[in-house]
Formats: sequence, structure tokens, C-alpha cells
Amino acid sequence: MTFTCYSFDSVSSSMDVASDLYQKGISPPFSIYAKEQTQGRGRRGRTWESPQGNIYATFVLSCSPRLFHLSPFAAVLGLHCALLNVAGPADPKTIHHPKREDFHSLLTLKWPNDLLLNGKKIAGILLEVLEIKQDSVILSLGIGVNTSSSPLHVLYPTTNLKDEGVMIPNESLMECLGHCLLDSFSFLENGGWPSLRRKWISLHDPKHSLIHLQQEEQRIKGTFMDLDTNGHLVLETDDGTIKSFATGDVFFAGSSASA
Ligand code: BTN
Repeated sequence: MTFTCYSFDSVSSSMDVASDLYQKGISPPFSIYAKEQTQGRGRRGRTWESPQGNIYATFVLSCSPRLFHLSPFAAVLGLHCALLNVAGPADPKTIHHPKREDFHSLLTLKWPNDLLLNGKKIAGILLEVLEIKQDSVILSLGIGVNTSSSPLHVLYPTTNLKDEGVMIPNESLMECLGHCLLDSFSFLENGGWPSLRRKWISLHDPKHSLIHLQQEEQRIKGTFMDLDTNGHLVLETDDGTIKSFATGDVFFAGSSASA
């Protein structure tokens, strides 16, 4: 099984195109790839700056309703796998090898599904539901990867692969991303969550264990303890209690955007 890919030079948002095609009867899995977006969107109604050069993609696939809450983790681990496969030093598709041999160790995760390179955001994932059926949820998985420029983000430091010494053709990453996402979701469907969860935890940077979690009006300070079996973030808060959180924006204490 592969994603049928529809490519565009410019779209409002690949999420809108994916939704339109699905409403018109195109069956998942399919993907949208755009060279630029004029109204790219991020999580929580934010704007996702989308100039030419980076990857803007939406993958439409179906997922079991009982696993829907774990889809952000399957998505980010699929993305992580694709980046390692395509940008890793040994891959012949890599035009220019990463400057640093430690590329693998520089690629880390921030809860729930942000991918960081060298501590800075390199990619974002937006999940939308296109339809809830009795035995499946049709997911629209929007993925933006900064391959050649770093749109300014008011909340987080950002970076891009080119500035970090990795130059890869967007088309190679897109192709690999499709395979890795399908593998990751199929692994999840086949009882793979315990292993995906361990993988996710292993990719959380211990340097970033002090966390500020922003939830609407309140900001919670704590130390990262775990990702629980529901995918919730487990923190030891300042008063020594262990609490788990289902929502919020994570900031790392001490980073420029954490004030
Ligand atoms: C985030 O806020 O971190 C999520 C950003 C998701 C951006 C991608 S780019 C492709 C797809 N189309 C959009 O409009 N947004 C997502």
C-alpha cells in the first residue's frame, strides 16, 4: 500500500486540498505535496509560514478509533524515521552529508509531536479529522518540514536542514515519509504501541527535562517523568506531585521562548 501523491505549485493549505479531494471521493491513503502555501496553518489556530523551498504535505489515511489518541506519536515517529533514512550520513540520496556525524543524536522530540534538530523546531505536525466512521477515523496529517529555510516562530526557536548542513531533495523525503508513516501506523494497528512509546521516550532529550506546560491561562512547571500509556505527558510538578497532562504547549525552561 502506498500514498497516491497529488503535487501542486501553490495551495492555500494542503489541509484544505486534502479535505476537498476526500469530499470528492478520493480514497485514502493519498497525499498532497505543495511547494508553497498561502494560508498555511499550525496548531491552535496559528499561522504556519510557508515560503517556497520547504515541505508542505498532508497525508490522508484511516486509523482505528481505539488508537486515534495515539496517532500524534505514530506520526512523529514516522517523520523521525524518514528524516534519519534520507538525511542520515550513509544514504546515497543525500547530496551533501550532514556536517556532524551526530545527526542522529541531534534529532529529538518535544511532546506531543514536534521534531527538533539541535534543540530547535525543524518540523511540525497538524492533525485533523476528516470523518469518523463506525470502524475507522479518516485522518488528515499535515506535515511541514523546514528543509531550506526557518520561518520565524514567535513561540519557539526554529532551524532548517540546510543551515544544519543537510541538503536533501524534498521529493526524496516526501517519498520516504509516505513509506515511514504507513509503516508506523501499521505497527500501531498491530499492537506496536508499547514499542513506539519506548522509542518516543528514548528520543526525548534529557537536557530538556525541565518543562513549562502552557494550558490556556495557566503555566505549569515540572520535570519530565514519562509518556504514559495514553500518550499523556507525566510531570513531577514543583510541589513534588506526579501529574499527567493531556493537552498544552511545552516549552523548555531556559530556552529563549520560555519566558
Ligand atoms: C505546528 O503548529 O507545529 C503544526 C504545523 C503544521 C504545518 C503543516 S504544513 C502542511 C500542512 N498544511 C498546513 O496548513 N499545515 C500543515
